[in-house]
Amino acid sequence: MASHILAIDQGTTSSRAILFDAHQHVVAVAQEEFQQHFPRSGWVEHEPEDIWNSTLAVCQAAIARAGLSARDIAGIGITNQRETTVVWDRASGRAIHRAIVWQDRRTAEICAGLRDAGHEPMVSAKTGLILDPYFSGTKIAWILDHVPGSRELAAKGRLAFGTVDSWLLWRLTGGGAHATDATNASRTLLYDIHRGDWDGELLKLIRVPRSMLPEVKDSAADFGATLSDFFGAPIRVLGIAGDQQAAVVGQACFKPGMIKSTYGTGCFALLNTGSRAVVSKNRLLTTVAYQLEGKRTYALEGAIFIAGAAVQWLRDGLKIIANAAESGMLAEAADLNQQVYLVPAFVGLGAPYWDAEARGALFGLTRSTGPAEIARAALEAVCFQTHDLLEAMHADWPEAQSATSVLRVDGGMVASDWTMQCLADTLNAPVDRPRILETTALGAAYLAGMQAGIYPGLDELARNWHLERRFLPAMDEKMRRQKLAGWADAVSRTLTKR
Ligand code: G3P
Repeated sequence: MASHILAIDQGTTSSRAILFDAHQHVVAVAQEEFQQHFPRSGWVEHEPEDIWNSTLAVCQAAIARAGLSARDIAGIGITNQRETTVVWDRASGRAIHRAIVWQDRRTAEICAGLRDAGHEPMVSAKTGLILDPYFSGTKIAWILDHVPGSRELAAKGRLAFGTVDSWLLWRLTGGGAHATDATNASRTLLYDIHRGDWDGELLKLIRVPRSMLPEVKDSAADFGATLSDFFGAPIRVLGIAGDQQAAVVGQACFKPGMIKSTYGTGCFALLNTGSRAVVSKNRLLTTVAYQLEGKRTYALEGAIFIAGAAVQWLRDGLKIIANAAESGMLAEAADLNQQVYLVPAFVGLGAPYWDAEARGALFGLTRSTGPAEIARAALEAVCFQTHDLLEAMHADWPEAQSATSVLRVDGGMVASDWTMQCLADTLNAPVDRPRILETTALGAAYLAGMQAGIYPGLDELARNWHLERRFLPAMDEKMRRQKLAGWADAVSRTLTKR
C-alpha cells in the first residue's frame, strides 16, 4: 500500500521536495535554487518555467533518492511562496509574463491611488489585508495592463491566473486542474475571507476578470492527479497551503493563542485566532490559517519582508561572510559598546509599518564599525522586527497576552543559537525550536496525508511536535528597553510616511 507523502515546498529562492514516510519521518530531500530577476529597483521576478522545471526535477530526484516509485506515494502536498503571481495562456500552458514575486513593489502607485480614493476600509473588511503591492491582485492588473492584447484574451476567458500552487497544479495535471486552496486565495486581495469566495466588488475595483481565477478548495482536498509522464504513474495532489500557513500546521499551532514565526527569506509570524477573524487595529493582516472540511481557522499575521535575505546580503552583497552559518559567529564577536542599527527596508517595510517606498539604512556607524557590528545589526534587526509584530498582536488580541507566552520558531535562520538567544532576549519571552525544522513541508505533508487517510487527525499530529531546545530570555530589562528605543528611532528615520 502507498504509505509515503511527497511534499513540494516551492519557495522564493529554491524549490524543494521532501518525502515523508507513514510515520511523518523525512526519508529523502532534494533542493534546487533558481535565478532571481531584479529588472528595476523594487522589482522582483521569477521565470515561471524555472519554477516548474526546478520543482519537477526535485520531485523526481527525491523519489529516486528514496528508491521509491509513484505507487509508493499516497499523495502530494504543495506549499508555496505566497502572493507571487503567474498569468498564463490556457491553450498553450505558457506564462504571458514572468512571475511577479511577492516582494515586488511595482504596483505601489496603483495601491496608493486606491487608498487615496478611500477604498482601503472596504478592501480590508473583506480580505483582512491592506492595500499594498505585496498581494497578488494589483500584480495581475499590472500584467494585464502591460502585456499587449492580454486584456482582450482575458475577456475571452483564454487566460488563467494562479499563485505558485495553482501554476504547479496546472502543470502537474497537464492543464486538468485550475484550483487553489483558501489560504492562498486569502492573499490575493480578491477573496472575501468571511464568505469564502471571490468577491465581485473587489474584482471590479482591481480590474481582474473572474474567468481568470482558480476554483478555491479546502487545504486538504482532492486537487487532481499528475500526468503519468512525470513520475511513471499518476499521483494525486491532496493538500495545498501557502508556506506560512503550512508552517502553522507543521508547528501544530492548532489552538487559538498559539503562535509560530518562520524565518525564511522574510519572517512571518502567525497567531491562531480560531474560528474568529480578528480585525487588526495595528496594521497586521487577518488571514486564513487553514480550511478543513469547509471550516476556516483564522490567524493574525505579521509579515516582515527581509529576514534571511539580510543574511544573504551579508554573504552576497557585502561578502563579509562565506555562508549563512558564519553570521552568528561574526555577530558574537561584535563590540558591544557600539550601537549600530540596520533597518533592512530593502524592498520597503512590511507590518506594522507598511511603507513601500522606505529603503534600508545603517545608523550609528563609527570609524571602528566593521563586519562584526554590521552582522550583529542585521541579526538584531530580525529580532526587533519580530518584537514589533508581537507587540501589535498583543494589542490586537489581548487574549493572546496570556496564551502566547511562547514563540515556536522554524526556518533556516533558527539554526543559529546566537540569533535565537537574541530573539528570546529581545522579546523577553521563551523561544521554542522544534526537533523537525522542515515544518513548512511537514505541514503540507500533514494536509495531504490526512486527505489520503494515512495520517491521523490534528490532535494526534500535535503530539508529534517535539522540542529540541528552549531559549530563555536573559537580558537586563534596562538594556532591552534601550535597544528597542534605538531601533524605534532608526525605523522612524527610514519611514517615508511619518
Ligand atoms: O508571503 C511570502 C512568503 O510566502 C514567502 O516565504 O519562505 O519563500 O520566504 P519564503
